[in-house]
Amino acid sequence: MTSRCAALIPAAGLGARLVDRRSDAPAVPKAFRQLAGQSLLRRCAEMLVGLCDEVVVAVPDTHLDLARDDLVGLGSAVRVVAGGGDRQTSVACALAAAHSQAEVIVVHDAARPLAQPEVVRRVLDALDAGAQAVVPTQPVPDSLRWLGVDGQNTPIDRSSARAVQTPQGFRRTLLEQAHAAAGPDTGATDDATLVERLGVPVTLVDGDPLAFKITRPLDLLLAEAVLAAQR
Ligand code: CTP
Ligand code: MG
Repeated sequence: MTSRCAALIPAAGLGARLVDRRSDAPAVPKAFRQLAGQSLLRRCAEMLVGLCDEVVVAVPDTHLDLARDDLVGLGSAVRVVAGGGDRQTSVACALAAAHSQAEVIVVHDAARPLAQPEVVRRVLDALDAGAQAVVPTQPVPDSLRWLGVDGQNTPIDRSSARAVQTPQGFRRTLLEQAHAAAGPDTGATDDATLVERLGVPVTLVDGDPLAFKITRPLDLLLAEAVLAAQR
């Protein structure tokens, strides 16, 4: 049986790289951008509310009411809190608000709105099987190069590299320890990085091609095309 689970959705980023500089439309934080009539945030929350006992969403403190409106109808298992100035702080804010009975935590970026329930189940199954920290990954299609500090660059064996996605899953106490130990301004772009600093190994599971991150305008176009093809 799956342990009691809380899902955290860091959604407090501004989406600076998504802004189309040719448009004079007012910038809305990325999580509130619409994709076929639904925000990225709502898509993630709807997917996770069916799989976890509670969902805690961290949004900019200027957008708490908008988030509550956006998530209306998803029930009391979904709660909204204010995030912080970087992703790590936003996750920490959501983690602090998670229900005390949650034993496992799934962290999923609002910026990955097309992730499918199956990848969440793979993560939860690995936790149930005893893993401490679980990360979905995908093979990298491009050839890769490592940039050295000396200006040199060297090829990397692509077959040994993986792209890291969310949802990532953790034993709750471990994630709390990792955030407490991390301190500010680590620059970490995910939670597994913080957990690994405690010396705890991370278990990899198959990621989801649809869990790609919406970062630039092209990613939003791709997501729209995926949804149009599904209709
Ligand atoms: N995030 C967050 N709080 C922040 C910064 C980021 O909750 N202060 C969240 C984003 O909302 C997103 C996830 O972390 O769901 C991954 O971050 P990223 O893709 O970098 O989103 P943004 O920071 O919004 O985008 P950008 O870096 O282009 O501004
Ligand atoms: Mg960012």
